[in-house]
Amino acid sequence: MRSRATLLHVVIDVSRQRREIGDLRPISRERNVVLLLGIETSCDDTSAALVATGGRVLANVATNQDAFHARFGGIVPEIAGRQHLSLVAAVIDEALSRADCGLADLDGIAVTAGPGLIGSLVVGVAAARALAFARTLPLYAVQHLHGHLFAPYLGETNVASPAYPLLALLVSGGHTQLVEAESATDIRMLGRTRDDAAGEAFDKTARLLGLPFPGGAALDRLARRGDPRAIAFPRYRPREATFDFSFSGLKTAARRIIEAPDRSSSDADIAASFEAAVVDTLIDRLDRATDRRSYRDVVVSGGVAANSRLRAELCTWGERRGTTIRIPALAYCTDNAAMIAGAALLQGEQIRVEPLDAVADPNLPFSLTPMV
Ligand code: KG4
Ligand code: ZN
Repeated sequence: MRSRATLLHVVIDVSRQRREIGDLRPISRERNVVLLLGIETSCDDTSAALVATGGRVLANVATNQDAFHARFGGIVPEIAGRQHLSLVAAVIDEALSRADCGLADLDGIAVTAGPGLIGSLVVGVAAARALAFARTLPLYAVQHLHGHLFAPYLGETNVASPAYPLLALLVSGGHTQLVEAESATDIRMLGRTRDDAAGEAFDKTARLLGLPFPGGAALDRLARRGDPRAIAFPRYRPREATFDFSFSGLKTAARRIIEAPDRSSSDADIAASFEAAVVDTLIDRLDRATDRRSYRDVVVSGGVAANSRLRAELCTWGERRGTTIRIPALAYCTDNAAMIAGAALLQGEQIRVEPLDAVADPNLPFSLTPMV
């Protein structure tokens, strides 16, 4: 039996949930409206969401396991898998109840199939397979990064639809990628990090500064008190025409400065200068891509898109380039199940699988295999 104590550990992010949804029920009976249950367990957040056609989020419940991993200074895969197992059913129940609907109202289930931690992915995939099989519902296997890519098109009321061609910068704890999309299913990667992900660089530098894990958000707060020009950190700007990223040189430079016995810079100045170097590098790759071709939408998504300096600089950049920038609401920047259901609503049949054929793939490729 599930104990209340377990549920007390759940930090529920009631991000922008709708309470006044009486007018929407039964949503799946409305003409042309599809209601999906999304499930996301690729890393260390157990999340479930109810999302309808047009990216309307009826509920988005995300648990946060940070307290279980903090003392190890990073995510422990074994712990993440076990936490998902103990939370997934409660989180799905909570999402259904907040959306005021039941399994009978669903038109399908969307689940993150990969990439991610295998012990984490299998929990969500097993839950989705079981529900889809038992209720004879369509099952959609979503690539986690496609979820991030379409996260800006989620909201509780009307939101914009993606405009193609679309350029997207996906910046999270595990990934830093620049991608372009001609449609919801024709997506290719332009560049990726050669070493650390942007969020990983934030977390490692934050740790050296004595900030608790995951340190990205704490470093962001610290940086607001510092001078971004105090230290000239290196910016990775390769001469060749590449859209790749690298953050290891910057991370090493930060370590050298933080650990210097005679250091004179304050923590806040180091944080602000480090953050400015990451942001400049990201904006430089957007410049390179938009110099080559114009895009109707430019998306910046993933946990690092929550960074306040990046968000501010992107606004300025968008105005300067005359480009529409789409950044998800904060609740949809970090891992969440609403973005998984949202991606499935856009990609539809191309990612549909037979429930018992769905598999968790920690190395799921980025591009969809063309249908023949
Ligand atoms: O997308 P996400 O929740 O999980 C992954 O798929 O990795 O991203 C988490 C990452 C962490 O590295 C975290 O430190 C970083 O996003 N992050 C931030 C901020 N908020 C979260 N990095 C910089 N500034 C922030 N405000
Ligand atoms: Zn993610």
